[in-house]
Amino acid sequence: MSSAAVPASKEQDRADRPLHVAIIMDGNGRWAAARGLPRAEGHRRGVEALRRVVRASRELGVLYLTIFSFSSENWSRPASEIGDLFGLLKRFIRNDLATLHRDGVRVRIIGERVGLEPDICALLNEAEELTRDNTRLNLVVAFNYGSRQEIARAAQRLAREVAQGSRDPSSIDADTLGRSLDAPDIPDPDLIIRTSGEQRLSNFLMWQAAYSEFVFVPMHWPDFDKAALESAIAEYARRERRFGGLVAKTAS
Ligand code: IPE
Ligand code: IPE
Ligand code: MG
Repeated sequence: MSSAAVPASKEQDRADRPLHVAIIMDGNGRWAAARGLPRAEGHRRGVEALRRVVRASRELGVLYLTIFSFSSENWSRPASEIGDLFGLLKRFIRNDLATLHRDGVRVRIIGERVGLEPDICALLNEAEELTRDNTRLNLVVAFNYGSRQEIARAAQRLAREVAQGSRDPSSIDADTLGRSLDAPDIPDPDLIIRTSGEQRLSNFLMWQAAYSEFVFVPMHWPDFDKAALESAIAEYARRERRFGGLVAKTAS
């Protein structure tokens, strides 16, 4: 069916809802500090918020949910905190993978795997393998992820093809580079949410965010819930996306 045949209300409905929501889950440490609790407790409560938001995303018809779980720059934190964060990711996958699979969630991982501990790599692979045929929601976990590093990896892949003689340098354009990123089949995020009041990307999806809408919310990540997601989506629906043109357009 051509888009002209879609009734106007349906067309509007589709434009209002983001297909891909990406979240910078920030403020766990400040949430804990405000309550006199250790930062680790903030991270633990952050995982509970993540469970709520995965469920809410399915209920709200989001097809792709990308979450920033550990950045390339988070290695500069104390070893004990890195241990807490890695421990939580491992526990999240061990405890929740069966439920995610039952609920039709496909788990994808973006970020650098080289140099990660073998047990964490094995868990990431297991999550991707088990859920590869699921279609209800794509949960994209940005782990050990940095956008500059991802773009550099894409440049390396292309440079290798040039060096092997299988690619002409003049064939490399924005599309080619985009297709060499970690998850080329995933559409760009329509909406990027950052909690905790900070208003920056911190090396998250810089290439993919070229035409994303940004919503910054003051609450810390452990307090985020379905109502907060709904209100960010409502804010998104009020935006006019033009993609460089003169009239509002939908992403797809
Ligand atoms: C987000 O919370 C979790 C990660 C970055 C892994 P923070 O740990 O950054 O919390 P704040 O920003 O210090 O409050
Ligand atoms: C971004 O948050 C990374 C994650 C949410 C995983 P940070 O807390 O690390 O970002 P900065 O340091 O405040 O920019
Ligand atoms: Mg932070």
